[in-house]
Amino acid sequence: MRFVTPLAAGAAIWLCAALNGASAQDLNVLCGVDEDWCSTMETAFEAETGLEVAMERRSTGEILDQIRSERDNPHIDVWWGGTGDTHLQAAGEDLLETYTPAHGGDALPWAQNFFQMSGGKASGVYAGALGFAYNADILDARDISTPSCWKDLTDPRYRGLVLMANPKSSGTAFTVLATLIQLLGEEEAFAYLAALAHNIPEFTTSGAAPVKAAARGKTGIGISFIHDAVTQKLAGAPLVIVAPCEGTGYEIGAVSIVRGAKNLASAHRFVDFAMSPEGQATGAASGQNQIPSNARAALPPAAPDISLIRMVDYDFATFGSPDQRRKLLDRFDREVLQGTGSALTQ
Ligand code: F6P
Repeated sequence: MRFVTPLAAGAAIWLCAALNGASAQDLNVLCGVDEDWCSTMETAFEAETGLEVAMERRSTGEILDQIRSERDNPHIDVWWGGTGDTHLQAAGEDLLETYTPAHGGDALPWAQNFFQMSGGKASGVYAGALGFAYNADILDARDISTPSCWKDLTDPRYRGLVLMANPKSSGTAFTVLATLIQLLGEEEAFAYLAALAHNIPEFTTSGAAPVKAAARGKTGIGISFIHDAVTQKLAGAPLVIVAPCEGTGYEIGAVSIVRGAKNLASAHRFVDFAMSPEGQATGAASGQNQIPSNARAALPPAAPDISLIRMVDYDFATFGSPDQRRKLLDRFDREVLQGTGSALTQ
């Protein structure tokens, strides 16, 4: 009789895993928030549970595309962060597991509503309003007057000076699209975007890239979530942050578990932690400024007070539907990207 030593058995398991492309991690997470928050959360969760996590940052639409492509054999267990519209679209495509997290009872009413709307498949973690920020030094140096409304951004004086992300990859930019439609109606919103595209030299992949570029003086105006602009401003950037005069939209950032997740028990623990006051404190700890969904979580001191911002009554049911996503992205591609010959970049 031949015996296999524990060492040889371990090596065989490792070899099998390597050949199958499987990871040795206890949990695979795609992270839709800022890189700094992703790594702070990873460290905090590993310290809390002793589990080993593989976490990568992607933009919201990229995460949806990856989860779709792995539908029959998911590698990713948890999708944490990124705009809630797109988590709802994934729920609508039957890509997510139902899970009622611990601490769900402490969620603020907007997060409770969001959870119901998702059919129990996505939980709201944070909220934040959309807006834009301009680099005062850049606009001063060119002696150009400053914008305070969405309509100002199409003015030819800002030619080449505005950045926004591509709504196919970015949840932020999808929120821009949905917000403008809710403010102006679909026809006028697309006419507005086609005009705005003349001022945009490139569409970024990530939604925070525009305000990061404005913060570094690489562009004049960045359209992004206001909390991302606050983070840049607190780091010393000469940004002026604008809540557009016509009103604006907002996101509910979410967490969800991928249907068929291989590490389901660990995924449950991650979602529980993401909904806990301790898990949500990792946002402020990494310099982020979203509003936490747990009523017992501390508000980051510089988080924008969204009750002071004129806000649309955001229609998550409509803009969280897979059909709307498909239709609006196709139209954006035809009328804004191809129609105006805009370049796409990373
Ligand atoms: O940078 C953080 C953040 O703005 C989140 O609040 C939001 O959910 C996410 O990024 C959206 O990122 P993207 O637009 O790249 O999908």
